[in-house]
Amino acid sequence: MSWLVTGGAGYIGAHVVRALLADGHDVVVLDDLSTGFKERVPDGVPIVLGTVLDRAALDRALLDHGVTGVVHLAGKKQVGESVAKPLHYFHENVEGLRILLAAMGEHGVRSLVFSSSASAYGMPDVEFVTEDTPCEPVSPYGLTKLVGEQLIAAAAVAQPLAYVNIRYFNVAGTASPELADRGAANLIPLIFERIDAGLPPRIFGDDYPTPDGTGVRDYIHVADLAEAHSAAVRRLTADPRTALTVNAGRGVGVSVREIIQMVGDVVGRPDLTGAVEARRPGDVARSVAAADRIRTELGWTAHLGVREMVESAWAGWRR
Ligand code: WQD
Repeated sequence: MSWLVTGGAGYIGAHVVRALLADGHDVVVLDDLSTGFKERVPDGVPIVLGTVLDRAALDRALLDHGVTGVVHLAGKKQVGESVAKPLHYFHENVEGLRILLAAMGEHGVRSLVFSSSASAYGMPDVEFVTEDTPCEPVSPYGLTKLVGEQLIAAAAVAQPLAYVNIRYFNVAGTASPELADRGAANLIPLIFERIDAGLPPRIFGDDYPTPDGTGVRDYIHVADLAEAHSAAVRRLTADPRTALTVNAGRGVGVSVREIIQMVGDVVGRPDLTGAVEARRPGDVARSVAAADRIRTELGWTAHLGVREMVESAWAGWRR
């Protein structure tokens, strides 16, 4: 019995691999190293080099390692890029998943944890987003995640398949510096980049209907998120009829200004303030999870706060 982690050399995947190992599972990684790094995969964990679009690589990964369940994280995840390359995103994220599901069906692999996203919701006008809040994605990226969930549900009617879709909110931090997210696509690393450049962090709009006018998000530490995957794996192992979609967030809203202030605190720049710019197209004022379902269904709650996210992210950035 072992678990295949697709995208296991990625930022989130590498954390998931460690959480599964800590829980006593055998793990194998499938990764094409397009954005992942081999060094993130611990010694002793086999890596099959290839994408989920490569059926032969997938077959090798599943058959050579006695895989009984899959945690599927491989995919494209840049919202902006998805607007420019929607067909590419559908190919990688939806066709990739279709090929994975076909291989799982043929080889009798019956458990799947799917990496979904809060961007499946689009721009819901609610204080706390529950899993029953209607999904109206506004980016091709969000759409590929929603369609992915629907594809899984449809496949589960026709083949033995238990699944947990995990909708990630804003993932940040790192369990150790060498596992840090590389690249600067999200708020916290973008603030670090501006500090290094000697420039004030940018605030995309301070006229939102939020307490300080800046965007509010539900930030979750990647180590906590990895634990949510372990909890999903435990649930799938215990109950082969599982068909679940859960939010992974803390249920706590944090504003852009609060993040900038925390970064200033952590890096010893209490004077750090942002420079207000225009709103970024496609941004919502507030996106905060209702985290009840994941707690009741999987027994999972987050333990780490924004300070731990910023401190660990900074240690990774400095490295
Ligand atoms: C957070 C807040 C910005 C940069 C996206 C995807 C989501 C998920 C995570 C993937 C917003 C503000 C940002 C800056 C700022 N991706 N901001 N100045 O947009 O909430 O979520 O990434 O799997 O699906 O949609 O994250 O980190 O870009 O922004 O003011 O320099 O910070 O406007 O309010 P976002 P983010």
